[in-house]
Amino acid sequence: MRTTWSFHSAGQLLFGRDAAAQLGEVARRLGAGRVFVVTDSHLAKAGILERVRSALAAAPASVAVFEGGLPEPPIALAETCAAQAREFQAQAILGLGGGSNMDLAKIVATLLAHGGGPRDYVGDDQIPGPILPLICVPTTAGTGSEVSGASVLTDTENKIKVGILSNYLRPRAAVVDPLLTVSCPPKVTADSGIDALTHAIEAYTAVDNEEFPLPPGVKTIYQGRHALGDLLAERAIELIGANLRRACSHGDDLAAREAMALGATLAGLAFSNVGVAVVHALEYPIGGATHCSHGAGNGLLLPFVMRFNLPARVSRFARIAELLGENVAGLDETAAAERAIIAVERLKSAIGIPQRLRDLGARPEQLPEFAEKAFNVKRILRVNPRPVTAADLEGILRSAW
Ligand SMILES: NC(=O)c1ccc[n+]([C@@H]2O[C@H](COP(=O)([O-])OP(=O)(O)OC[C@H]3O[C@@H](n4cnc5c(N)ncnc54)[C@H](O)[C@@H]3O)[C@@H](O)[C@H]2O)c1
Ligand SMILES: [Fe+2]
Repeated sequence: MRTTWSFHSAGQLLFGRDAAAQLGEVARRLGAGRVFVVTDSHLAKAGILERVRSALAAAPASVAVFEGGLPEPPIALAETCAAQAREFQAQAILGLGGGSNMDLAKIVATLLAHGGGPRDYVGDDQIPGPILPLICVPTTAGTGSEVSGASVLTDTENKIKVGILSNYLRPRAAVVDPLLTVSCPPKVTADSGIDALTHAIEAYTAVDNEEFPLPPGVKTIYQGRHALGDLLAERAIELIGANLRRACSHGDDLAAREAMALGATLAGLAFSNVGVAVVHALEYPIGGATHCSHGAGNGLLLPFVMRFNLPARVSRFARIAELLGENVAGLDETAAAERAIIAVERLKSAIGIPQRLRDLGARPEQLPEFAEKAFNVKRILRVNPRPVTAADLEGILRSAW
């Protein structure tokens, strides 16, 4: 039982069009003379890496670049990347990209400060102290990793995503420049955008902070729903609901891109303090086995999990319907709450998120194993507003198959 809550974020959050031009000043204030940039070849090709490099010249900083970032980064990639950063004698790490590159940067900053391998830090609060100064620059809207205390890697041997959670993983600076998201292809825009919506909805409907079922001696960065998380999640749901379709269909619409960038960062602030729940727990094994993107897996599952959770959060779901622009006038609360699910289903199909698990190539005989694996991710499951059993999880998966 908790009676207090706290709020954590990146040390500095710089937001706005062309904010990336100020990266030199941001790095200078961190006192980092040797900056190791973690990114990938798509962002180099899109010219985004060059913008960051020229901004860093103002620091002035000596810069090395790792361009080998991959979506849903495997644990082994983190080891390779950390070895290169160590060889360069990096004093600061800059994660440039979607959640994948930012998460890679976070674990590299951890390994350089504390040694060991990524597996040593898997789970809650396993990082013993501050990590190397870290700057995160998102190019998707997005995971919220630029403000969050999470890093997610893929354990390719056990076919599951693994999470490292610690407030030490929060970047010293987050530079959110909506212009960097303009080159996102529609699929990346859709997948990362519905991930952000999932963050906001899971945080907004999470277990209450006062009822957070934390066993004695267990530490976690998640705290359940609280007033500040609610405020951030509500605005995020509204912004994403009003702008995600447009950002997908008209990628050059700067107003839609900016609204999405803000919505995703607000959702990141909300979920990384309050918690995410059953959608994310189920996505871990599904993403690990089917190799769908994190966002596609979450978006696929979201309405099915909402249906399971609805009885525990009727009035909150009714409010989500309103925030998503549904006309709920004259409806009773349960009918209004149903509209939230319908609104998410419509959004999902409008932006091309796969509808069912079978569309990802999952087979029915895999569902019990997925449920079993998700049931082990207790730190997330305890955030859910309705207690869940492994059988409940399997039931949700069957409804989504
Ligand atoms: N740490 C956290 O708090 C957190 C939260 C949610 C998800 N995640 C993780 O983040 C990852 C997903 O991140 P994502 O959805 O941002 O996608 P991503 O980082 O995996 O990127 C997907 C693809 O889009 C490309 N791309 C990204 N930005 C682009 C741009 N502006 N122009 C052109 N191409 C671009 C990338 O190069 C990549 O090939 C998953 O591994 C997920 O588990 C982390
Ligand atoms: Fe997510």
